[in-house]
Amino acid sequence: MSSSDNRRLSVTRVDVSKGHEAEFHAISTQFAALLARKEYGRAVTVADEAEPLRFYSVRHWNGVASAELCHADPEVQSLTARLYQIARVTHVVNGVRRAEMVRLLLEDRRARVEADRRTGFDRRMKDAGSPTGIERRVARDRRLGPRRLRDRPGEVDLIGAARHAREHADAAFSHFKVGAALETADGEVITGCNIENATYGLTICAERVAMFKALSEGHRAFVRIAIVADTDSPTPPCGACRQILWEFGGNLEVQLANLKNPKGTYRLKDLLPLPFDARLL
Ligand code: THU
Repeated sequence: MSSSDNRRLSVTRVDVSKGHEAEFHAISTQFAALLARKEYGRAVTVADEAEPLRFYSVRHWNGVASAELCHADPEVQSLTARLYQIARVTHVVNGVRRAEMVRLLLEDRRARVEADRRTGFDRRMKDAGSPTGIERRVARDRRLGPRRLRDRPGEVDLIGAARHAREHADAAFSHFKVGAALETADGEVITGCNIENATYGLTICAERVAMFKALSEGHRAFVRIAIVADTDSPTPPCGACRQILWEFGGNLEVQLANLKNPKGTYRLKDLLPLPFDARLL
């Protein structure tokens, strides 16, 4: 294989939050200089004609190995970490997605979610113009098996998974069945349903079942949870579940739905303002 066959292209869309344009340009310049100096490749930043805060970061890698080295480079990682603080970054073209790059991308996503979880950082950019909720899901996908990597988080039919999980609810006392589906940072879906108890007090909600199942299987980074009940008005998580979800999931996206329709998308930090957590101990 000639060396030119090994060259790859990556493109990310970068939606910069308002007021951070200058910092974004500084980061881009440093990133381009780093890529050239360390001979990883070439980086060019292109502005979107129609969207003033939208840019495309085009990277021409000298090879798959260069891209891998670049992603593992601490200098690059610290620049990327700064970028994630001021922008929403979406992979558009990933020319280096081979087995090892999939792993790197997963680590990258896990690291971002983990960082959010620790700091309670809200990744939403008010001006980013990206769809939320159901619009973000592109299609129903019933293959809710383990370890499925998604190109973009949010493409999985999380509400569908929660509806399905609800069918297993054991709600003999309240007859109020709830289903939950939790999406991990690497696109796996872990479901839960409420399980009631004759003592009533030992009842456990769908959300906590999902979270504890996920934790017990080793997951530690989460992006969203869907909660479904058969009611006209949305069923938000109870106080105890908000606390557990916050401590283990951070500022999750919370999608509420009934059996037919979505009923709203929230952020956990808005459902649990002024939270108590390990940072205060
Ligand atoms: N429940 C949940 O599972 N999740 C919620 O978000 C609200 C309440 C369950 C607990 C109990 O089994 C039943 O619904 C009635 O409170």
